[in-house]
Parts: sequence; structure tokens; C-alpha cells
Amino acid sequence: MKGIILAGGLATRLRPLTWVTNKHLLPIYNKPMIYYPLEAMAKAGIKEVLITSSPDHAGDFANLLTTGEEFSLRLYYAVQKNPKGGIADAISLAEEFAKDEKTLVMLGDNIFNFDLRKSALEFENQGNGAMVFGIKMPTDSQQYGVIEMDNKGKVLSIEEKPENPKSDIAQTGIYMYDSQVFTFIKSLSPSGRGELEVTDLNNFYLKQGLLQCRLIDWWIDAGTSYDELLRANTMVAEKVKGGQL
Ligand code: G1P
Repeated sequence: MKGIILAGGLATRLRPLTWVTNKHLLPIYNKPMIYYPLEAMAKAGIKEVLITSSPDHAGDFANLLTTGEEFSLRLYYAVQKNPKGGIADAISLAEEFAKDEKTLVMLGDNIFNFDLRKSALEFENQGNGAMVFGIKMPTDSQQYGVIEMDNKGKVLSIEEKPENPKSDIAQTGIYMYDSQVFTFIKSLSPSGRGELEVTDLNNFYLKQGLLQCRLIDWWIDAGTSYDELLRANTMVAEKVKGGQL
């Protein structure tokens, strides 16, 4: 299985912090943000990771991370020309890199410590499909993709930032896909905000009955707001000091 970390976008919600610095290089306690998904990839058993970023920041990632040896990973870099292309557009850059392998995709601003190794192994050994990871979020779930499930854990719907969320489960930025993903992305159209949405992609799998969901315990999308960035810093600091991270 190959890894893809998405580190592009304009990060308008974090300006002025992100006028000249890529969001994924901002500090989360004692490390740049992108270190966390990289460590999660290595922990999941992934060996090769493609990092996608915007033209003006691709060099910063190469400067900082070089070959990826520090993480026991082999790193590759890709440039997303349109920073507003969306998550699915960024994933499409990995078509040649992934060849016919399955992929583990992470958004570069997602901080979590769920061990993905077991899910990755299961996913690798099963047939076609996709897997998403959700988290219970009693408030604010409408800022995210929202996953509705029945009481057996079957996914019923996923909606992107709905006004009236059907559940309190937010879709995290962790996804696993089979190699059909690149074909599916080609059939997507830009959403109202002009992006190729990951939620539309996941709905493709859902319609075919090929989407699974796992719940994780704690997770922060550090790029959502200054408050979430601050919360990520505080939470990571507490966990590091408590020996949990
Ligand atoms: C994206 C996805 C959304 C998901 C979120 C997780 O939102 O579109 O479904 O819940 O990442 O971080 P965005 O950060 O692009 O608003």
C-alpha cells in the first residue's frame, strides 16, 4: 500500500499565519504539523509516501524532509498546480506513483494517534473498496463531512458540511482507496466551492456498496481555525508530557 499526504491549499482560514508559510509547516507543539501524518504513515506500515503541495511550497517540504529517512519512509513530491483544486484533485496526482496499489491518504493537517496498522492490513487483504475514518463530534460536525451510519456500522450517507447534520460523526481526513480511485476521480465535477470533493469521491464507493467506516478516538483538523490550531498544540503538549505520544 502506498501513502499520500496532502499538503497543498491556500489555508485562508489561518491567515496571516499562512501568507508566506505553508500551513502544514506551522508548529504543533515541538514539531512541524506535517511530522504527525508522516509518523502515522510509518506506524501504519507504509514505506513510500507522496507529498502533494502547491508550486510555491514544494521546495520547502523537500528542504525539510529530504528523502524521508528520519521517518523510515521513502518520500516523493508532487505539485498541485491549482491550489483550489480540492482533495480529490490532489489525490489524482498520485496515479503513476500508486500504479495498481491501494493507497492510504491523509490530510497533512490532521493530528491523531490512532494506530492504522490493523485497518491497513485488513484493507490490503480485502477486495475492492474504500475505507473512511470517522469521529464522534457532539458539536460542530457541520464544519466537516458528516457520516451517517446504522447501528451495525453500515454507512448510510456522507454529506459535505451539511446545514442539518444527520449524525454527530465527522469524516476525518484519513482515507483508504483501491486502485479504481483514479478512474472515479476523473468522473467528478467541481462542487459549489469549486473543488473536487473527497465526499463526492467517497459517495461513489458508497453507491456501489464498497465503503466501510471505522471510528477513531481523538483527532483534530488543525487547519480549521486558530482555535483548533491552538487546541492541537495544547493537546499534543499534554500527550507528549504524559508519555502518550
Ligand atoms: C475536508 C473534507 C471534509 C473532512 C475534512 C477533514 O474539509 O472535505 O469532508 O471532514 O476535510 O479534515 P476541508 O478541510 O477541505 O474544509
